[in-house]
Amino acid sequence: MKLGKNRMANDEAPLDKVVEEVSRGSKYKGVDKGAIRRIAEKEFSGNMKVKEVTKAVKSKLHQIGGAFFTGRPKYSSWLQELRKLKESDDGRFRRTCAGIMRFHSSTKERLEILDRFYADIFSEISPVDSVLDLACGLNPLSIPWIPQFERLEYCAYDIYVDLVDFLNAFIELLGVKGHAEVRDVLFNPPRRRADVALILKTIPCFDQIDRTAVQTMLQRINTDNLVVSFPVKSLGGIEKMMIKNYTERFEKIACEEDWKIKKMLFKTELAFIVSK
Ligand SMILES: C[S@@+](CC[C@H](N)C(=O)[O-])C[C@H]1O[C@@H](n2cnc3c(N)ncnc32)[C@H](O)[C@@H]1O
Repeated sequence: MKLGKNRMANDEAPLDKVVEEVSRGSKYKGVDKGAIRRIAEKEFSGNMKVKEVTKAVKSKLHQIGGAFFTGRPKYSSWLQELRKLKESDDGRFRRTCAGIMRFHSSTKERLEILDRFYADIFSEISPVDSVLDLACGLNPLSIPWIPQFERLEYCAYDIYVDLVDFLNAFIELLGVKGHAEVRDVLFNPPRRRADVALILKTIPCFDQIDRTAVQTMLQRINTDNLVVSFPVKSLGGIEKMMIKNYTERFEKIACEEDWKIKKMLFKTELAFIVSK
Protein backbone atom coordinates (compact mmCIF):
# COMPACT_ATOMS: atom_id res chain seq x y z
CA MET A 1 0.00 0.00 0.00
CA LYS A 2 1.28 3.45 -0.89
CA LEU A 3 1.65 5.89 2.02
CA GLY A 4 -0.41 9.06 1.59
CA LYS A 5 1.07 12.56 1.60
CA ASN A 6 2.05 13.71 5.11
CA ARG A 7 1.57 10.17 6.41
CA MET A 8 5.04 10.36 7.92
CA ALA A 9 4.64 13.87 9.30
CA ASN A 10 1.64 12.72 11.34
CA ASP A 11 3.28 9.51 12.38
CA GLU A 12 5.43 10.09 15.48
CA ALA A 13 7.76 7.12 15.22
CA PRO A 14 9.41 7.63 11.78
CA LEU A 15 10.02 11.36 12.38
CA ASP A 16 11.46 10.58 15.80
CA LYS A 17 13.76 8.13 14.05
CA VAL A 18 14.91 10.82 11.60
CA VAL A 19 15.66 13.21 14.49
CA GLU A 20 17.54 10.46 16.29
CA GLU A 21 19.57 9.54 13.17
CA VAL A 22 20.47 13.16 12.40
CA SER A 23 21.43 13.90 16.02
CA ARG A 24 23.63 10.81 16.18
CA GLY A 25 26.30 12.24 13.86
CA SER A 26 28.97 14.44 15.46
CA LYS A 27 28.18 17.34 13.08
CA TYR A 28 24.57 17.81 14.15
CA LYS A 29 24.37 16.41 17.68
CA GLY A 30 24.55 20.00 18.95
CA VAL A 31 21.52 21.15 16.93
CA ASP A 32 18.19 21.75 18.64
CA LYS A 33 15.98 18.67 18.13
CA GLY A 34 12.83 20.76 17.61
CA ALA A 35 14.51 22.55 14.69
CA ILE A 36 15.63 19.22 13.19
CA ARG A 37 12.08 17.93 13.46
CA ARG A 38 10.58 20.99 11.75
CA ILE A 39 13.07 20.60 8.89
CA ALA A 40 12.20 16.90 8.65
CA GLU A 41 8.49 17.76 8.40
CA LYS A 42 9.25 20.21 5.57
CA GLU A 43 11.57 17.81 3.74
CA PHE A 44 9.25 14.84 3.86
CA SER A 45 7.10 14.20 0.85
CA GLY A 46 5.30 11.25 -0.73
CA ASN A 47 6.48 7.94 0.66
CA MET A 48 10.09 8.76 1.47
CA LYS A 49 11.99 6.34 3.68
CA VAL A 50 13.63 7.34 6.99
CA LYS A 51 17.06 7.10 5.32
CA GLU A 52 16.09 9.49 2.51
CA VAL A 53 14.53 12.06 4.85
CA THR A 54 17.59 11.83 7.15
CA LYS A 55 19.88 12.54 4.19
CA ALA A 56 17.73 15.48 3.06
CA VAL A 57 17.64 16.96 6.59
CA LYS A 58 21.43 16.68 6.97
CA SER A 59 21.90 18.39 3.65
CA LYS A 60 19.59 21.27 4.69
CA LEU A 61 21.36 21.62 8.05
CA HIS A 62 24.63 21.87 6.20
CA GLN A 63 23.25 24.63 3.95
CA ILE A 64 21.75 26.66 6.81
CA GLY A 65 24.45 26.20 9.45
CA GLY A 66 27.27 23.69 9.09
CA ALA A 67 28.68 25.14 5.86
CA PHE A 68 29.51 28.44 7.57
CA PHE A 69 31.91 27.03 10.15
CA THR A 70 35.46 27.40 8.86
CA GLY A 71 36.84 25.02 11.50
CA ARG A 72 35.74 22.98 14.50
CA PRO A 73 34.72 25.43 17.26
CA LYS A 74 36.88 25.25 20.39
CA TYR A 75 34.39 26.72 22.82
CA SER A 76 36.06 25.80 26.10
CA SER A 77 39.57 26.91 25.14
CA TRP A 78 38.15 30.15 23.65
CA LEU A 79 36.41 30.86 26.94
CA GLN A 80 39.56 30.18 28.96
CA GLU A 81 41.51 32.58 26.75
CA LEU A 82 38.83 35.29 26.93
CA ARG A 83 38.59 34.99 30.72
CA LYS A 84 42.36 35.47 30.99
CA LEU A 85 42.27 38.57 28.81
CA LYS A 86 39.07 40.20 30.07
CA GLU A 87 40.80 42.74 32.24
CA SER A 88 43.57 43.57 29.74
CA ASP A 89 43.16 47.01 28.19
CA ASP A 90 45.71 46.60 25.40
CA GLY A 91 43.33 45.39 22.70
CA ARG A 92 44.09 41.70 23.18
CA PHE A 93 40.52 40.89 24.28
CA ARG A 94 39.08 42.39 21.08
CA ARG A 95 41.77 40.74 18.95
CA THR A 96 40.84 37.38 20.48
CA CYS A 97 37.13 38.02 19.75
CA ALA A 98 38.10 38.81 16.15
CA GLY A 99 40.17 35.60 15.97
CA ILE A 100 37.15 33.57 17.15
CA MET A 101 34.86 35.30 14.63
CA ARG A 102 37.11 33.89 11.86
CA PHE A 103 35.71 30.46 12.66
CA HIS A 104 32.39 31.40 11.03
CA SER A 105 32.43 32.72 7.49
CA SER A 106 29.62 35.23 8.14
CA THR A 107 31.46 37.01 10.95
CA LYS A 108 34.83 36.47 9.28
CA GLU A 109 33.81 38.56 6.27
CA ARG A 110 32.27 41.22 8.54
CA LEU A 111 35.59 41.81 10.34
CA GLU A 112 36.92 44.27 7.77
CA ILE A 113 33.81 46.50 8.06
CA LEU A 114 33.22 46.16 11.82
CA ASP A 115 34.78 49.52 12.66
CA ARG A 116 31.97 51.25 10.72
CA PHE A 117 29.17 48.68 10.69
CA TYR A 118 27.43 49.36 14.02
CA ALA A 119 28.46 53.02 14.23
CA ASP A 120 26.85 53.77 10.84
CA ILE A 121 23.76 51.65 11.33
CA PHE A 122 22.98 52.56 14.93
CA SER A 123 23.44 56.28 14.23
CA GLU A 124 20.28 55.96 12.09
CA ILE A 125 18.19 54.46 14.91
CA SER A 126 19.74 55.64 18.15
CA PRO A 127 19.25 55.44 21.02
CA VAL A 128 19.69 51.67 20.96
CA ASP A 129 19.59 50.15 24.42
CA SER A 130 18.34 46.67 23.59
CA VAL A 131 19.19 44.31 20.73
CA LEU A 132 17.84 40.98 19.53
CA ASP A 133 20.27 39.02 17.34
CA LEU A 134 18.31 36.38 15.42
CA ALA A 135 20.16 33.37 13.98
CA CYS A 136 23.25 34.94 15.47
CA GLY A 137 26.07 32.49 14.74
CA LEU A 138 29.21 33.96 16.33
CA ASN A 139 28.04 37.56 15.84
CA PRO A 140 27.64 38.33 19.60
CA LEU A 141 31.47 38.24 19.67
CA SER A 142 31.22 41.59 17.85
CA ILE A 143 29.39 43.29 20.77
CA PRO A 144 32.61 45.11 21.82
CA TRP A 145 32.46 47.00 18.48
CA ILE A 146 29.02 48.49 19.28
CA PRO A 147 29.37 52.07 20.52
CA GLN A 148 28.81 52.17 24.32
CA PHE A 149 28.04 48.45 24.36
CA GLU A 150 28.33 48.30 28.17
CA ARG A 151 24.81 49.71 28.63
CA LEU A 152 23.14 47.31 26.21
CA GLU A 153 20.77 44.46 26.77
CA TYR A 154 21.67 41.84 24.14
CA CYS A 155 19.62 38.69 23.46
CA ALA A 156 20.88 36.21 20.87
CA TYR A 157 19.23 33.17 19.27
CA ASP A 158 20.46 30.20 17.23
CA ILE A 159 19.74 26.48 16.79
CA TYR A 160 23.13 25.19 18.05
CA VAL A 161 22.98 24.22 21.73
CA ASP A 162 26.79 24.24 22.27
CA LEU A 163 27.13 27.63 20.52
CA VAL A 164 24.39 29.06 22.74
CA ASP A 165 26.10 27.76 25.91
CA PHE A 166 29.33 29.45 24.80
CA LEU A 167 27.52 32.72 24.01
CA ASN A 168 25.83 32.75 27.42
CA ALA A 169 29.23 32.49 29.08
CA PHE A 170 30.58 35.20 26.77
CA ILE A 171 27.71 37.61 27.48
CA GLU A 172 28.18 37.08 31.22
CA LEU A 173 31.92 37.66 30.88
CA LEU A 174 31.36 40.90 28.98
CA GLY A 175 29.09 42.08 31.77
CA VAL A 176 26.24 43.17 29.50
CA LYS A 177 22.64 42.33 30.32
CA GLY A 178 20.95 39.64 28.27
CA HIS A 179 21.40 36.03 27.30
CA ALA A 180 21.59 33.55 24.44
CA GLU A 181 18.80 31.09 23.73
CA VAL A 182 18.23 28.01 21.57
CA ARG A 183 15.33 28.91 19.29
CA ASP A 184 14.12 28.19 15.79
CA VAL A 185 13.52 31.84 14.96
CA LEU A 186 11.96 31.18 11.56
CA PHE A 187 8.88 29.46 13.00
CA ASN A 188 9.11 30.78 16.55
CA PRO A 189 10.61 34.30 16.60
CA PRO A 190 11.11 35.85 20.04
CA ARG A 191 8.20 38.01 21.25
CA ARG A 192 10.47 40.10 23.46
CA ARG A 193 10.39 43.91 23.03
CA ALA A 194 13.65 45.57 22.03
CA ASP A 195 14.87 48.66 20.19
CA VAL A 196 16.25 46.74 17.25
CA ALA A 197 16.44 43.22 15.86
CA LEU A 198 19.41 42.08 13.78
CA ILE A 199 18.68 39.51 11.08
CA LEU A 200 22.11 39.41 9.52
CA LYS A 201 22.82 37.43 6.35
CA THR A 202 20.35 34.73 7.32
CA ILE A 203 17.36 35.20 5.01
CA PRO A 204 19.05 33.09 2.29
CA CYS A 205 19.28 30.29 4.92
CA PHE A 206 15.60 30.65 5.85
CA ASP A 207 14.75 30.47 2.14
CA GLN A 208 16.27 26.98 2.08
CA ILE A 209 13.68 25.87 4.65
CA ASP A 210 10.59 27.88 3.68
CA ARG A 211 10.82 31.00 1.54
CA THR A 212 7.18 31.86 2.21
CA ALA A 213 7.73 31.99 6.01
CA VAL A 214 10.29 34.83 5.92
CA GLN A 215 7.94 37.81 5.61
CA THR A 216 5.64 36.52 8.37
CA MET A 217 8.64 36.06 10.65
CA LEU A 218 9.77 39.65 10.04
CA GLN A 219 6.25 40.91 10.81
CA ARG A 220 6.16 38.99 14.10
CA ILE A 221 9.39 40.44 15.53
CA ASN A 222 8.39 42.82 18.31
CA THR A 223 10.74 45.75 17.60
CA ASP A 224 10.21 49.09 15.84
CA ASN A 225 13.45 48.67 13.89
CA LEU A 226 15.01 45.78 12.03
CA VAL A 227 18.45 45.54 10.51
CA VAL A 228 18.20 42.98 7.73
CA SER A 229 21.35 42.20 5.82
CA PHE A 230 22.39 40.03 2.90
CA PRO A 231 25.71 38.67 1.69
CA VAL A 232 27.18 40.31 -1.40
CA LYS A 233 29.13 37.17 -2.28
CA SER A 234 28.11 33.52 -2.14
CA LEU A 235 30.13 31.10 0.02
CA GLY A 236 31.98 30.15 -3.16
CA GLY A 237 32.86 33.81 -3.74
CA ILE A 238 30.70 34.43 -6.82
CA GLU A 239 28.61 37.61 -6.89
CA LYS A 240 25.87 36.53 -9.29
CA MET A 241 23.78 39.76 -9.27
CA MET A 242 23.23 39.34 -5.55
CA ILE A 243 22.97 43.02 -4.67
CA LYS A 244 20.36 43.70 -7.36
CA ASN A 245 18.29 40.61 -6.58
CA TYR A 246 18.28 41.04 -2.80
CA THR A 247 17.46 44.74 -3.14
CA GLU A 248 14.47 44.02 -5.39
CA ARG A 249 13.27 41.26 -3.07
CA PHE A 250 13.56 43.34 0.09
CA GLU A 251 12.06 46.49 -1.45
CA LYS A 252 9.04 44.42 -2.46
CA ILE A 253 8.57 43.13 1.12
CA ALA A 254 8.97 46.67 2.54
CA CYS A 255 6.45 48.04 0.05
CA GLU A 256 3.87 45.33 0.87
CA GLU A 257 4.34 45.95 4.61
CA ASP A 258 4.44 49.74 4.27
CA TRP A 259 7.82 49.86 6.07
CA LYS A 260 10.30 52.69 5.60
CA ILE A 261 13.74 51.37 4.65
CA LYS A 262 17.21 52.79 4.27
CA LYS A 263 19.74 50.84 2.22
CA MET A 264 23.39 50.76 3.30
CA LEU A 265 25.97 49.03 1.15
CA PHE A 266 29.15 47.97 2.96
CA LYS A 267 32.08 46.32 1.22
CA THR A 268 31.07 42.83 2.34
CA GLU A 269 27.39 43.21 3.25
CA LEU A 270 24.17 44.81 2.01
CA ALA A 271 22.07 46.12 4.91
CA PHE A 272 18.55 47.52 5.16
CA ILE A 273 17.45 49.51 8.18
CA VAL A 274 13.72 49.08 8.59
CA SER A 275 11.36 51.33 10.54
CA LYS A 276 8.14 49.42 11.02
C1 LIG B 1 24.71 32.72 7.47
S1 LIG B 1 24.82 32.45 9.18
C2 LIG B 1 24.59 34.10 9.80
C3 LIG B 1 25.11 34.26 11.19
C4 LIG B 1 25.03 35.68 11.76
N1 LIG B 1 23.69 36.22 11.66
C5 LIG B 1 26.02 36.59 11.07
O1 LIG B 1 25.63 37.32 10.15
O2 LIG B 1 27.18 36.57 11.44
C6 LIG B 1 23.30 31.66 9.52
C7 LIG B 1 23.05 31.31 10.98
O3 LIG B 1 21.66 31.07 11.13
C8 LIG B 1 21.46 29.99 12.01
N2 LIG B 1 20.10 29.50 11.70
C9 LIG B 1 19.68 28.96 10.54
N3 LIG B 1 18.37 28.70 10.61
C10 LIG B 1 17.95 29.09 11.84
C11 LIG B 1 16.70 29.08 12.50
N4 LIG B 1 15.59 28.62 11.90
N5 LIG B 1 16.61 29.57 13.76
C12 LIG B 1 17.73 30.05 14.38
N6 LIG B 1 18.96 30.08 13.80
C13 LIG B 1 19.06 29.61 12.54
C14 LIG B 1 22.61 29.05 11.69
O4 LIG B 1 22.86 28.14 12.74
C15 LIG B 1 23.75 30.05 11.47
O5 LIG B 1 24.40 30.33 12.69
